[in-house]
Amino acid sequence: MNILIIYAHPSNKSFTYKVLQTLLKALNMGNHRVEILDLYKMKFQSDMTEEEYEREGFAKTELPLSEDVIEEHRKIEWADAVIFLYPVWWSDCPAKMKGWFDRVYSVGYAYGYDKNGGKTVKMKKIKLGLVICTAGHPNEFLDKTGIAESMRNVMLDDRLGIRFGKKEMIILGGTLELEKVANSHLEKIMNVGINMDEF
Ligand SMILES: Cc1cc2nc3c(=O)[nH]c(=O)nc-3n(C[C@H](O)[C@H](O)[C@H](O)COP(=O)(O)O)c2cc1C
Repeated sequence: MNILIIYAHPSNKSFTYKVLQTLLKALNMGNHRVEILDLYKMKFQSDMTEEEYEREGFAKTELPLSEDVIEEHRKIEWADAVIFLYPVWWSDCPAKMKGWFDRVYSVGYAYGYDKNGGKTVKMKKIKLGLVICTAGHPNEFLDKTGIAESMRNVMLDDRLGIRFGKKEMIILGGTLELEKVANSHLEKIMNVGINMDEF
């Protein structure tokens, strides 16, 4: 499988980085081709420019796309599976990744409308979309408060939406007491990586 990992964390000292390393180790054990988009490392531009807003805000698909956005589209078209990996910040992905959706999910590509008002998507339908996020709060708290459900709604139902076949979200919670959860979380990711084909 061609697997694209879209990763957003600014520090290599983080637990999320350890999750990335574990995931890569597991995926390397399978017959996969893996590409990582490390959004902080590549200094991905997450802010939309005024020119881009002119295109996106008014669906002016005749206006050109930025070169870096076109490059991201090429990577999406290559992928059979996309894994989004990030820490939960204020109940969502970091702004860096939110900006990836703002700019890369451009009108006429990730969404659009035909003459009759029907929805059109030019983007390739990707077999699997897997969202992995680390969270300070324990999973029980995120479930009880409805935050986990809202994160699933936004990431899986809206952002991945009809563009992906199978969709799954794994929340690795309780990282404020890391020593209690780290091993079982990393074991889970190892198993997920090894069994990617079974999704
Ligand atoms: C700016 C910021 C906002 C955060 N917001 C949340 C949050 O809304 N919910 C939550 O469970 N954890 C939150 N956390 C905790 C992180 O999710 C947690 O530190 C991370 O998942 C795991 O640590 P890492 O940074 O070492 O990878 C936040 C952390 C930071 C730095």
